Amino acid sequence: KKKVFVDNLISKMTLDEKIGQLNLPSSGDFTTGTAQSSDIGKKIEQGLVGGLFNIKGVDKIRDVQKVAVEKSRLKIPMIFGMDVIHGYETTFPIPLGIASSWDMDLIQRSAQIAAQESTADGINWTFSPMVDVSRDPRWGRVSEGSGEDPYLGSQIAKAMVYGYQGNDLSKKNTMLACVKHFALYGAGEAGRDYNTVDMSHVQMYNMYFPPYKAAVDAGAGSVMASFNEVDGIPATGNKWLMTDVLRKQWDFKGFVVTDYTGINEMIDHGMGDLKQVSALAMNAGIDMDMVGEGFLKTLKQSISEGKVTEQTVTDAARRILEAKYDLGLFDDPYKYTDTKRAQKEVFSPKHLEAAKTIASQSMVLMKNDKQVLPLKKSGTVAVIGPLGDNAMNMTGTWSVAAKHANSISLLRGLKETVGKDVNFIFAKGSNVYEDAKMEEKVAMFGKDTGRDSRPAEDIRKEALAIANQADVIVLAMGESAEMSGESSSRTDIGIPETQKELLRELKKTGKPIVIVLFTGRPLVLTEESQLADAILNVWFPGSMAGYAISDVLYGKVNPSAKLPMTFPRSVGQVPLYYNSKNTGRPLSQENTDKCTFEKFRSNYLDECNTPLYPFGFGLSYTKFGYSDVSVSNAKPVGNTPIEASVTLTNNGKYEGAEIVQLYIRDLVGSNTRPVKELKGFQKVYLKAGESKKVTFKISPEDLKFFNNQLKYDWEAGDFDIMIGTSSSEVKTTRVNWSK
Ligand code: IFM
Repeated sequence: KKKVFVDNLISKMTLDEKIGQLNLPSSGDFTTGTAQSSDIGKKIEQGLVGGLFNIKGVDKIRDVQKVAVEKSRLKIPMIFGMDVIHGYETTFPIPLGIASSWDMDLIQRSAQIAAQESTADGINWTFSPMVDVSRDPRWGRVSEGSGEDPYLGSQIAKAMVYGYQGNDLSKKNTMLACVKHFALYGAGEAGRDYNTVDMSHVQMYNMYFPPYKAAVDAGAGSVMASFNEVDGIPATGNKWLMTDVLRKQWDFKGFVVTDYTGINEMIDHGMGDLKQVSALAMNAGIDMDMVGEGFLKTLKQSISEGKVTEQTVTDAARRILEAKYDLGLFDDPYKYTDTKRAQKEVFSPKHLEAAKTIASQSMVLMKNDKQVLPLKKSGTVAVIGPLGDNAMNMTGTWSVAAKHANSISLLRGLKETVGKDVNFIFAKGSNVYEDAKMEEKVAMFGKDTGRDSRPAEDIRKEALAIANQADVIVLAMGESAEMSGESSSRTDIGIPETQKELLRELKKTGKPIVIVLFTGRPLVLTEESQLADAILNVWFPGSMAGYAISDVLYGKVNPSAKLPMTFPRSVGQVPLYYNSKNTGRPLSQENTDKCTFEKFRSNYLDECNTPLYPFGFGLSYTKFGYSDVSVSNAKPVGNTPIEASVTLTNNGKYEGAEIVQLYIRDLVGSNTRPVKELKGFQKVYLKAGESKKVTFKISPEDLKFFNNQLKYDWEAGDFDIMIGTSSSEVKTTRVNWSK
């Protein structure tokens, strides 16, 4: 039915109208009621626009859709895109935070709520999930991804796609997902945004491609090309990537959109003029041109010169029309523009409740000496820090639909949830940054950090005064929202000096210090980890930040989240990741653990090899014990799976959840193999004193890798099976698996 409909439509289209479908401008400036007379309205009327983005609100969207379906010749409806990255108006933690929950049901639910709200408000296409694996916390966009691991990243990619798209795109509350940024955007040199990438195919296929493929396998309807080059050709013009890998090897059937002006940027990459780069992109397999209008301005001429065939353009237009058909837009172009639905469903109490749960499940307890947490519900608590009463920065980066001021600040959350027995007093203590220029850069997008222009010492004095009256200090410090995210790379990934100075001074009061850490990336926290008694990493928790943090600080929720990305000891260790190779001169385990230098081994003169907080790490208020690992068969043969188990015991006094992690090491291979790779995880709930057997099924599928001929297979031999609480604390047994 779809084919007949689209064939019929295409047969009526002029070349200009086909090219028009490939054009995705940003909505530009028009107010409700002026869509038709706006610049964009005129283009839509001529059939020169396939979709719009950066437009918010049912009324505006209905107005502009009306121009497409009532004024243009063929009445083709438009799609409406937006960066709905971690929620719509109801905002969830930043993606790196959500990833820390390792909870696929919650992650899927967050995407489903995002779709529910977006579609109620007119949006039917999200530029999410971002699944770029990254090992470099200097890159600001690690905040938008799921961290460093291809396996965890793949599970999350699938959960997000299912959440957005459901099992029927034509429903009113599901939306088209767009997997981005294909490919390797997270591997830019030196963590500088948009920078060059150079990587072997073995590395691509084993470590960076899996989450994109997982999202495609889950049925993602669209893919966004990345800005960077791959094998010396920008992804946007890379035929091997877009056609050979994506369409031929992975059987992707949806459409590919560029990133913002991605085609035009190939001019600066040195790939030719606008006509050349547009033809390059079209022939590579790009279907839709975001903002740059390279297709609109040059494709017709390229066709007349024989550089592009009309069939290629028709195929691209077909893929976009098919997506519109799948969304049900030809049946009802106004299906997402019901004002009543928008009022009822956007920022609803039910969604906010879910946002609170997801936020509290995303907070990573990184230190808790002498069980300073959970806090007692009595006495005086000094809430100090530039992020202590700062609603504007709670939603984090890329939260374009959010009304930031509606978020719950930490102070507000504490005051409203803890009850009258605790006296909360507040002082800001410092700015986020002392450097006013940096402050301007990080207070973008309306996320004011509330800069105080008094000398740092005066601001600090107030904080020291209230600290002296308190039983405990809750210090809300770290990055402000826009210190991570797009175009926010940093070479110093520490907390700004003015906040550190505040911490040092507060330490002198002798009061216990609980750092509530706000961050969009792994930071270097070497000094903070020594000075603080407890550190709760809350990332940017979203709309319900203050309530969720309060629930964790006061023990209503026992933290269970685990880091999806390594926290280094120093920026000089970057890239630092758990699934590394061994090298021919590894440092001995003993010296690694003791941080002892060994000449002519792979280590540093001035730093340990180990991270400050490893991948998979996160504490709980209770204590979990692991038995040794037992396997159902230590000498398996062929494809029959085996089981590996541990008994997990809650040895503490709180009930709680533990994320049990399975890692495997292939000890000898035809190619060098990582020292461990995540192959499974389970979130297990235990009451105090309870034990449970936790079992993982392992099959040869889990042992497969791409060798240097890009053959995907497993090799017989010894494998270490590791199960534990983090990538660096595991119990190990060995199996010998033969073919
Ligand atoms: O979706 C984004 C992308 O991640 C970065 N450039 C702009 C796009 C659209 O807003």
